[in-house]
Amino acid sequence: MAKGVSSASRSVPVVLVCLGALLFANVLIYFYIESLYQSSETHVSLHGNCPPGHFKMGAMKNCSPWLQCPAVPKEVRKLKMIGQGAVKQVFLSEWKGHKVAMSKLSTPKYEDDFLHGLAMLQALQGPHVVLLVGLCPEDHTFITEYHPLGSLLNLDSVLAQERYRRLDTWQTRLRLALEYVSAVHFLHNSPAGTRVMCDSNDLEKTLSQFLLTSDFHLVANDLDALPAVDRAKGRLVKCGSRELHGDFVAPEQLWPHGDSVPFSDGLMPEYDEKTDVWKIPDVARFLLGRVPGGDLAHFHLFQIHGECKRRDPALRPSARAVLGVYRTVYANMMKDNPSPSSRDML
Ligand SMILES: Nc1ncnc2c1ncn2[C@@H]1O[C@H](COP(=O)(O)OP(=O)(O)O)[C@@H](O)[C@H]1O
Ligand SMILES: [Mg+2]
Repeated sequence: MAKGVSSASRSVPVVLVCLGALLFANVLIYFYIESLYQSSETHVSLHGNCPPGHFKMGAMKNCSPWLQCPAVPKEVRKLKMIGQGAVKQVFLSEWKGHKVAMSKLSTPKYEDDFLHGLAMLQALQGPHVVLLVGLCPEDHTFITEYHPLGSLLNLDSVLAQERYRRLDTWQTRLRLALEYVSAVHFLHNSPAGTRVMCDSNDLEKTLSQFLLTSDFHLVANDLDALPAVDRAKGRLVKCGSRELHGDFVAPEQLWPHGDSVPFSDGLMPEYDEKTDVWKIPDVARFLLGRVPGGDLAHFHLFQIHGECKRRDPALRPSARAVLGVYRTVYANMMKDNPSPSSRDML
């Protein structure tokens, strides 16, 4: 009996030591995963950590206030057109030896969208959004950091180039998919409220609103159509237009009244940010592409992607929940098969 008691009392410290070791291992794993997020998602140095209304890019040593009206036309020199969407014409330009992008309103019809996009750029500056350098709303012009690799639409052709081919790995692509989900999560939980990415009727359109940075991160660029969902006021959004079709847009975004009822914007349904969640699997499929190891990422994401595609928006996960799964999958796959980050390889 006495022997039994003493062996039990001896095993108590052993159990405590084991528990302590387990706790310590968990803390280590936690910090490891945190460090992975930080290097993968918050490429803060690119955005310079400047106070609001200031910017720093390239080799600039100090933060500079956004260029304003007289300086924009005077100091920024237009070089050539690099992009043309419905709302803006975008020109590669030069400011004090820095390459920048000058966006100008294409047609007066879209003035409201242009000014809304500019207001959103101002409000949402940070690691997920292109760096604003200057603005002259009176002149319908603003200046952003130039990204020579262009929009995300170019991803496959960029990674097919000889000089970037070694970066065409599941590591690069899964990180981009994680950053995409992270950007959607940011827009749904932004300082300007819950913003829905409306200008995303098809995959190409959606990809064209994001830019690929030279070190293979992504930033949201075109914020012209970002209405707010305000649950407290019962306000939903309506991106709708008759051009919406196909599987890419969520079912609740489609014309629900059949062919017999003539189309009208007023009769379009309202919905919320879960339309963006519906689109995540399609964007992720493009970003992941077909590279060795990519199928394993698809496999791990299969279930959450299935949940994103639930017909009832209320049953879809939030962007935060999707991001949680992406982070876990990324951390686990990287732990099993690390590789130098793209920045180290460049
Ligand atoms: N800062 C930039 N650096 C490089 N390319 C850019 C930049 N800004 C825009 N572009 C190019 O111009 C295209 C159109 O820009 P966008 O802001 O989407 O205009 P729109 O509102 O008319 O759709 C983008 O898809 C991209 O190819
Ligand atoms: Mg666009």
